Amino acid sequence: DLQIGFYNTSCPTAESLVQQAVAAAFANNSGIAPGLIRMHFHDCFVRGCDASVLLDSTANNTAEKDAIPNNPSLRGFEVITAAKSAVEAACPQTVSCADILAFAARDSANLAGNITYQVPSGRRDGTVSLASEANAQIPSPLFNATQLINSFANKTLTADEMVTLSGAHSIGVAHCSSFTNRLYNFNSGSGIDPTLSPSYAALLRNTCPANSTRFTPITVSLDIITPSVLDNMYYTGVQLTLGLLTSDQALVTEANLSAAVKANAMNLTAWASKFAQAMVKMGQIEVLTGTQGEIRTNCSVVNS
Ligand code: HEM
Ligand SMILES: *[C@@H]1O[C@H](CO)[C@@H](O)[C@H](O)[C@H]1NC(C)=O
Ligand SMILES: *[C@@H]1O[C@H](CO)[C@@H](O)[C@H](O)[C@H]1NC(C)=O
Ligand SMILES: *[C@@H]1O[C@H](CO)[C@@H](O)[C@H](O)[C@H]1NC(C)=O
Repeated sequence: DLQIGFYNTSCPTAESLVQQAVAAAFANNSGIAPGLIRMHFHDCFVRGCDASVLLDSTANNTAEKDAIPNNPSLRGFEVITAAKSAVEAACPQTVSCADILAFAARDSANLAGNITYQVPSGRRDGTVSLASEANAQIPSPLFNATQLINSFANKTLTADEMVTLSGAHSIGVAHCSSFTNRLYNFNSGSGIDPTLSPSYAALLRNTCPANSTRFTPITVSLDIITPSVLDNMYYTGVQLTLGLLTSDQALVTEANLSAAVKANAMNLTAWASKFAQAMVKMGQIEVLTGTQGEIRTNCSVVNS
């Protein structure tokens, strides 16, 4: 099992070195925080939190990094590389890439939202990374409430934790192709998703061409109210039909999810505390420990 302070003896500076690398990158680009929080989520949902998301594709294998939900939108890899270099210089072959990513996501939540929590560690790094698994396991922005609940349930997360963690969409951005389904040729009279605010839809149509692909370099903030603060205004936005993705707006299509949205919108401290707990739980999905896996030397390639 994982333990808080796993590296206290073997590498006492590990967590502070990661924090310094994340803080330095964040000072230059605050988009690093949403990037690293999402990267940890995408790691944990595919083969558990084993840093499989960090492995590069090879001549014989298309890795998770190159799956549809990750390429090109996942960002912050260079911050993990910098953190790993600093940690390897202090304590060679001791700290896993999976733990560095979990620490970096926690430091991001602190920098973007003053949300603080301790991260149990001792994860080991996996040696397998398949784009096909990322394509299958990472929830789609087109999912409805039932699909979202099932996707998280499959990773041992409850519907309430799914709603709580969706609050990560209080920071960061989405590429147009993640939500143009709602703006053009939608299966309704106007061709626009009726559960999206009409004035917001008009603004989004002005920003996003109908033929956008995931490589079209236009992005929109996920939380229109406080786009760069990790807070509960995302839930207020969803209540006002300002949720950007189909999956965001889906959180108010079922009574019990909607009740969780309302509770989170009303109480920042309660949501922040639930978010911290849910991040810790997400960080324990199917982890490798003990002598399983390896401590990768370079986070983008398996040890030789
Ligand atoms: C509930 C199911 C979820 C779906 C369907 C979903 C889907 C998405 C999509 C489509 C994007 C935009 C990607 C792009 O177009 O660039 C996005 C961004 C993001 N997601 Fe999620 N997500 C979900 C849950 C989560 C969770 C659990 C977390 C973390 C705890 C998370 C954190 C983020 C963050 C921080 C961003 C912004 C990334 C950036 O600015 O680089 N999401 N998500
Ligand atoms: C951050 O949160 C702590 C309590 O957890 C509080 O004491 C502190 O004032 C907050 N800092 C900021 C900048 O809001
Ligand atoms: C998740 O889904 C996979 C494949 O459908 C299944 O093998 C696994 O048991 C499920 N896990 C949980 C916790 O439901
Ligand atoms: C809502 O209902 C679903 C299906 O009955 C259940 O699995 C889930 O735990 C409930 N969600 C919340 C947030 O309580």
